[in-house]
Amino acid sequence: MESEKPPKDFSYSKASSILYCSLKLTAIFLLTIVPLLFILSSPTSTATTLTLSYLHQWRKALYRNATKELDDMNAKLQDSVTFLPLKDLRFANKPMEGHTWFMSSLNDTFEEGETQHIYFPSETSNGRLLCINGRNQHDGSMNSYGLAWPGSLPSTATLLPGLTFVSDTYYDHENLWHGLCAVTPFVGWHMKNQCREKPTRWVLFHQGEVRTRTGSWVQNIMRATFEEEMKVEYFNQEESSSSSSSSSYKGAYCFEKAVVMRHNEGKMGQERRLKVYNMLRCKTRQFCNMDFKDDSTSSRDKAVIRLTLLMRKGARSFKNESAVIQIFKRECERVENCKLTVAQSENLGFCDQVKLLSSTDIVATPHGAQLTNMVFMDRNSSVMEFFPKGWLKHAGVGQYVFQWLASWAGISHEGAWWDPNGESCPYPENDFRCFTEIYKNGRVGYNESYFADWARRVIDAAKAKKQAQASNLQHEGSSNCECS
Ligand SMILES: *[C@@H]1O[C@H](CO)[C@@H](O)[C@H](O)[C@H]1NC(C)=O
Ligand SMILES: *[C@@H]1O[C@H](CO)[C@@H](O)[C@H](O)[C@H]1NC(C)=O
Ligand SMILES: *[C@@H]1O[C@H](CO)[C@@H](O)[C@H](O)[C@H]1NC(C)=O
Ligand SMILES: *[C@@H]1O[C@H](CO)[C@@H](O)[C@H](O)[C@H]1NC(C)=O
Ligand SMILES: *[C@@H]1O[C@H](CO)[C@@H](O)[C@H](O)[C@H]1NC(C)=O
Repeated sequence: MESEKPPKDFSYSKASSILYCSLKLTAIFLLTIVPLLFILSSPTSTATTLTLSYLHQWRKALYRNATKELDDMNAKLQDSVTFLPLKDLRFANKPMEGHTWFMSSLNDTFEEGETQHIYFPSETSNGRLLCINGRNQHDGSMNSYGLAWPGSLPSTATLLPGLTFVSDTYYDHENLWHGLCAVTPFVGWHMKNQCREKPTRWVLFHQGEVRTRTGSWVQNIMRATFEEEMKVEYFNQEESSSSSSSSSYKGAYCFEKAVVMRHNEGKMGQERRLKVYNMLRCKTRQFCNMDFKDDSTSSRDKAVIRLTLLMRKGARSFKNESAVIQIFKRECERVENCKLTVAQSENLGFCDQVKLLSSTDIVATPHGAQLTNMVFMDRNSSVMEFFPKGWLKHAGVGQYVFQWLASWAGISHEGAWWDPNGESCPYPENDFRCFTEIYKNGRVGYNESYFADWARRVIDAAKAKKQAQASNLQHEGSSNCECS
């Protein structure tokens, strides 16, 4: 019988220990909570008032202690924001390879086909904001950047609300082509994000040195695209130093939200590029009040070929403009409904350029900044480019920038002509002075038979292309830009 019984000791001791535990818990409960309840339910007695006030003070002290510790910790966080030079001299000899010298400690966010950028605050920044101490216009290694949590910004820092576009370019924001390359990725990023938010300000760096503006052409395009003045922030030295607080002069600026681009168009994919240039084209036409409905020579008129000779003065101008005009005039007259326009680029304001190129199917022009205006032409329009002597051999890849731009913007670059004749170079053949002193600003001659054949080919091709596209081009020139 006994053997059938469960081990008594075990079950008893287990039960008793459970009982013991629950007794203990009950005791604790009774000892602590019940008096508390009693205290709380009878606030008038002297004893309870004393206990209450003690509890109260203890809680306050605890709270003070905790608050103080948090403050101390926060002060440490604020002081521990590390600022590094914007221009990292370790990368100074290879600024274009992979890692740039600009904000070298940070990696880009890379999404297939999209811009290479860094967004703050984000997972990449661990929720921290970007802060920049960047007033130096002459030495990028004297400017600096750091990351700080929103609640623990450096005590001398100023928080700038809204979205800030921060651009660093190896080249020059004032140059049309380079300036355009620096701003287009921001438009790509903006479109990728459903155009939700416009930039409150731009901060521009050139090799880490702050810049106060872009060229007016780029400014106009950005103004058209974002329908707002392009506000360039450069942490105004004069304003700050004349103010009474010198610390605000020394302090960094932290951005509530910031996007940093430092590779120009970088790895932005062709599909995104085409969308960006469609948007720029559409927005600038709207900005310049172009009304395609009433324009009989608009791109909707498939029978017309509009050929524009875009002249320039001085460096890289045609030596004999009237001879060049005669050749193009003759080839244009050969084709029914071909209209030739000769324009002097220096005489055109921004919207004149937009209007002219928007109504041009073929632009023929010497290499130069005025050719950046090709971005205003309809998709699949044509470009003919001319170079003075010496460029093909000495100018390096830089001479192909308009071929690149054409392919990014969906324009047909129909080739170039390099003048074989011109001034000769007195220096040894491979001396860089041949280019910088002689060829760079040379002028362009002409070859009658070559120009005539070339013009004929391009005009005929443009005409065929327009007729072929006549059926599927109904929406071209429509006033609805993407994102608006
Ligand atoms: C608050 O901090 C002081 C000093 O560190 C300490 O003596 C005191 O016990 C703390 N008070 C509480 C309620 O924790
Ligand atoms: C940046 O990328 C490199 C190479 O992929 C990696 O070694 C490095 O740890 C990354 N740095 C940061 C801060 O993520
Ligand atoms: C320009 O070319 C035309 C036509 O070939 C010629 O008659 C004229 O003399 C040239 N002008 C100059 C300044 O060379
Ligand atoms: C441009 O030309 C390409 C190839 O000929 C064609 O597929 C495309 O539809 C054209 N785009 C426009 C906007 O006309
Ligand atoms: C003009 O170009 C043609 C090719 O179209 C070439 O055969 C001819 O030699 C060139 N003329 C001159 C003067 O360079």
